[in-house]
Amino acid sequence: MPVIIKNEYDIAKMRIACRLASEVLDYITPFIKPDITTSELDKLCYEYMLYQQHTVPAPLNYQPFGYPPYPKATCISVNDVVCHGIPSNKKLKNNDILNIDITVIKDGYFGDTSRMFIVNSGSILCNRLVQVTYECMWLGIDQVRPSAHLGDIGYAIQHHAEAHGYSVVREYCGHGIGNVFHEEPQILHYGHPSTGMQIQPGMIFTIEPMINAGRREIRTMSDQWTVRTRDHSLSAQWEHTVLVTQTGYEVLTISANTPAKPMIITECV
Ligand code: MF3
Ligand code: CO
Ligand code: CO
Repeated sequence: MPVIIKNEYDIAKMRIACRLASEVLDYITPFIKPDITTSELDKLCYEYMLYQQHTVPAPLNYQPFGYPPYPKATCISVNDVVCHGIPSNKKLKNNDILNIDITVIKDGYFGDTSRMFIVNSGSILCNRLVQVTYECMWLGIDQVRPSAHLGDIGYAIQHHAEAHGYSVVREYCGHGIGNVFHEEPQILHYGHPSTGMQIQPGMIFTIEPMINAGRREIRTMSDQWTVRTRDHSLSAQWEHTVLVTQTGYEVLTISANTPAKPMIITECV
């Protein structure tokens, strides 16, 4: 399957789907407190998507080859869970870090984004991991322009993570997205400059680095979805969906409460 270059109609529809995905994260933010369970958060998101937005949660019953159907509307990955955490009756507690990953379908188009949250203020260590991972995502995004290479994105992410003593998860990557949840190209979060496919205007893909405080190795749980760090170190992830424009990029998963670009990006421009 080749990379799909989106037309103006597709791009207009993707702007809507992506904004809606981001608005689910805005909506759920004030509910993230000690003692709420991740399945309560999931249910709130599910009802907001269905009844307020009239969107469809893409994860629910999603079944890639070799996987059981995903049982919930969102992925909520707490502490050492790297990704695909299944919402459960476990309560959040002070200093937990969590990723909420939202993918909505609107008019047949997919918007995919995730953010990190820290329950109350968190330790200095977990704040640093969450911040550096945010910078990694943005350093990757900042490489996006026509004729740059996908390896430039991966290199920028890997270099920043490893400079802080962190590691990049290799088994999961960003992806093309449009009328299909996961399409080509794969966006690796590690690599070498000037390698890999050239970036072209009209491509839409996600950048979603998973960064571990310890070693990069992972283990999948017996539910066949939940992925944890092997060494039980904390893991963080942020995700945006990005359009390649004639001159650079447009981040599509933006809404009223999207966190600002980090200083590491704004002070360089
Ligand atoms: N939203 C995830 C991504 O960023 C995919 C989740 S698949 C699920 O690609 F089935 F676990 F929801
Ligand atoms: Co994604
Ligand atoms: Co996602």
